[in-house]
Amino acid sequence: MKRLSWGMVGGGEGSQIGPAHRMGAMADGHFTLAAGALDHNPEAGRAYAQTLGIAEDRAYGDWKEMLKGEKDRPDRIDLVTVATPNSTHYEITKAFLDAGFHVLCEKPMTMTVEEGEDIVRTVRASGKVCAVNYAYSAYPMIRHMRHMVDAGDLGAIRTVVANFSHGHHAAGDDADNPRVRWRYDPAQAGVSGQMADCGIHALHLASFIAGDEVEKLSADFASTVSGRVLEDDAMVNFRTAKGTVGRLWTSTIALGRQHGLDIQIFGEKGGLRWASEQPNQVYWSPLGGRTQIIEKGEAGISDMAARLSRVPIAHPEGFPLAVANIYVDLAAAIHAQKSGEALDPVANHFPKAEDGLRSMAAVYASVESAKQKGAWVDARPPMFR
Ligand code: NAI
Repeated sequence: MKRLSWGMVGGGEGSQIGPAHRMGAMADGHFTLAAGALDHNPEAGRAYAQTLGIAEDRAYGDWKEMLKGEKDRPDRIDLVTVATPNSTHYEITKAFLDAGFHVLCEKPMTMTVEEGEDIVRTVRASGKVCAVNYAYSAYPMIRHMRHMVDAGDLGAIRTVVANFSHGHHAAGDDADNPRVRWRYDPAQAGVSGQMADCGIHALHLASFIAGDEVEKLSADFASTVSGRVLEDDAMVNFRTAKGTVGRLWTSTIALGRQHGLDIQIFGEKGGLRWASEQPNQVYWSPLGGRTQIIEKGEAGISDMAARLSRVPIAHPEGFPLAVANIYVDLAAAIHAQKSGEALDPVANHFPKAEDGLRSMAAVYASVESAKQKGAWVDARPPMFR
């Protein structure tokens, strides 16, 4: 397949997620980095873009200049990744979609449910591909878990238990650390701290593996470090559209937990367990049988997992290659559009604007429920009720 042309907004030098996108997009030769507005500082962004090999005339000072510069080029970028701070995602994503570009937006896709609905409407009107970077859902073994659910191996799903709980903001004297402070400041982070930052990843995983959607929830929020306004710990009980019982714990003060993302899913015929710190193994416990370890790369693994795995059994791949798997799917989706052929269903599991919107609705429902001491609240976006 011909290489696609790719651009980035944000993800400049020293950013946390920028390198994972660059490694991911280029890992399999699907994309070439051709344009960028990489930094909030225009000069720094232009200079860094050129060190990455972007031509001088496509090393832009800001995203508006990039949109203008790319819009009418015959060799314009096929896909733009938005990897800027949260409050800018909506405006940039919408502007590029309106101009007919495909977009991969970082999470959270928007700051409000209304903005999320507007993005979904824009995507549907434009017909463009719009993905959200819930990259954990692209680990091969997560896709294999979804395959097992779809194949009926677990029977009806009864319960999902998801955690995204780490201990990296546990220090009470961290209040002046600029990398920590903004996360608990409503002016910068919005209505929610940890739930919007990490909880939504775990909730998305739960929905993705179960092939189901969160319908209602009850939340208990706590700000355990003195002086924090937004929550640094949350317990969310939820129910899905198919009636599955869901539990989510997300925290930033869980000392001893490192990355802390793990998930268990229990059906009437068996249970599955996966943790992001050992992403190559899934533990499968069939009813009445012994627990087995299913390994990435083993014989007989599903096509859903095998197509996203590059190295033999027992060799780790890791987070940047999970991000790469999102780009593998996006390349397939963009090529399908260009050629007018139907997208292979196996490539159509990447997280979409609708997932970004559902996350925002779940965040707002959690905030509302926590204010009402755990009252059950409808967690669906109004446009999906
Ligand atoms: P960061 O603060 O480390 O880097 C942000 C980058 O964007 C910097 O290079 C900055 O100069 C640039 N920037 C800021 N405003 C800009 C603008 N208006 N135009 C162009 N560039 C601009 O932030 P980090 O941690 O890389 O996060 C970026 C986004 O990625 C956030 O939305 C965050 O939630 C998300 N993220 C997602 C992860 C995932 O697993 N999907 C993991 C980490 C972050």
